[in-house]
Amino acid sequence: MPERVLDKDFAWGFATASYQIEGAPTADGRGPSIWDTFCKIPGKIADGSSGDVACDSYNRTAEDITLLKLTGAKAYRFSVSWTRIIPLGGREDPVNQTGIDYYKKLVDDLLAEEIIPFVTLFHWDFPDALDKRYGGLLNKTEFVADYAHYARTLFSAMPKVKNWITFNEPWCSSILGYNTGLFAPGHTSDRSKSAVGDSSRECWIVGHNCLIAHGAAVKIYREEFKATDGGQIGITLNGDSTYPWDTEDPLDVEAAERKLEFSISWFADPIYLGKYPDSMAKQLGDRLPTFTPEDLALVKGSNDFYGMNTYTANYIKHKTTEPEADDFLGNLETLFTNSKGDCIGPETQSFWLRPNAQGFKNLLNWISKRYNYPTIYVTENGTSIKGENDMAKEEILDDEFRAEYFRTHIAALAGAVSDGCKIKGYLAWSLMDNFEWAEGYETRFGVTYVDYEGGQVRYPKKSAKTVGPQFEAFMKT
Ligand code: NOJ
Repeated sequence: MPERVLDKDFAWGFATASYQIEGAPTADGRGPSIWDTFCKIPGKIADGSSGDVACDSYNRTAEDITLLKLTGAKAYRFSVSWTRIIPLGGREDPVNQTGIDYYKKLVDDLLAEEIIPFVTLFHWDFPDALDKRYGGLLNKTEFVADYAHYARTLFSAMPKVKNWITFNEPWCSSILGYNTGLFAPGHTSDRSKSAVGDSSRECWIVGHNCLIAHGAAVKIYREEFKATDGGQIGITLNGDSTYPWDTEDPLDVEAAERKLEFSISWFADPIYLGKYPDSMAKQLGDRLPTFTPEDLALVKGSNDFYGMNTYTANYIKHKTTEPEADDFLGNLETLFTNSKGDCIGPETQSFWLRPNAQGFKNLLNWISKRYNYPTIYVTENGTSIKGENDMAKEEILDDEFRAEYFRTHIAALAGAVSDGCKIKGYLAWSLMDNFEWAEGYETRFGVTYVDYEGGQVRYPKKSAKTVGPQFEAFMKT
């Protein structure tokens, strides 16, 4: 029998995000987000699709809750669409009560089934009106004030929510949204014109502003709501485990650490340690913004828990050339094979994802050690499967590859708890197949197959029935 190291109230379940599942982009007064706009630009989404229909979850919320019940989930992480709450987004713009009521009912319905809601305030669908009005996330003063107002509106409307996540993966908003241009609003570092002069600075400014907005929302929650609501609040950061390409080469060893600093520590160091990592300051110089004392006071100490998103691992090879102005990785290469020719894990449908459960365990330990053993919730972890979208339905439903991913990763998590990591929850990505951003609907991450053309019918896959029993095996009785 495996060691039963997980507490009885360990919060395992599944995660989703508003734009990826809801559809209904104009229903009940919802305003457009930057993703609505971005998807209309030809060539941005692999299959030319958008989240206009997605899983139609806005109209099928009861079905989604039934799915959760079937899995036995104890928790569900979803995100709120900012433009359902405030269609134009800003602090002086009208609040849309119908939008608030939708999420309040979702929370009530989940609680009625004893499923704990984890609510993400911002999972990338930023109000388009604010992007056009003042440059969106690049404009510190306006963005922070509007985000704080939006956050306060939700805290006040939903006191039954006890687990709040301020931002999902600000690395992606910053780098993919303002450097590579793969995500909305699609800025690239080589734009001839940028509101901030040098466009290769944009991503670092956006990351900085997200940190401050996070800190502002946490201050509001702690001062105005936490005492009565008794909840907790944190940020969700993405980052994947690293191994040196050549373990004998100290420069690769150092680069493997630097890769984690450019992804995780970019945000977590200011929150837990009060400053940006030295490696980033060294490479970026004055392109990395500095904190005013007031901003730092908001950011430092602002996590009640660490929200961890992770999927893969990489071998890291250092570069000997000087970093380019728009280099965001830390002057290194990420590879799936090391100097000995070992492969890190099997291929999936996602070019960036190779399962590696040992890496997951290592990363849980790395975060725990660097930040003095914070409470961790794994807010996303999961896999796509190579060619899944082209398989027959029966084959899709028998997703042994994904089931095995969850078995090995849950066992690795239990191992990390034995090592001393304080992990209190795990939300598998995702409850169902959904709109995978720039990859459209070609890549599926769900434990539920969604038949988009066949009336949106949901069919639980084998993996939907794997996560629960695997957790039960590691839980104290
Ligand atoms: C992380 C993101 O938060 C989520 O929206 C996305 O679908 C998954 N990664 C899979 O790529």
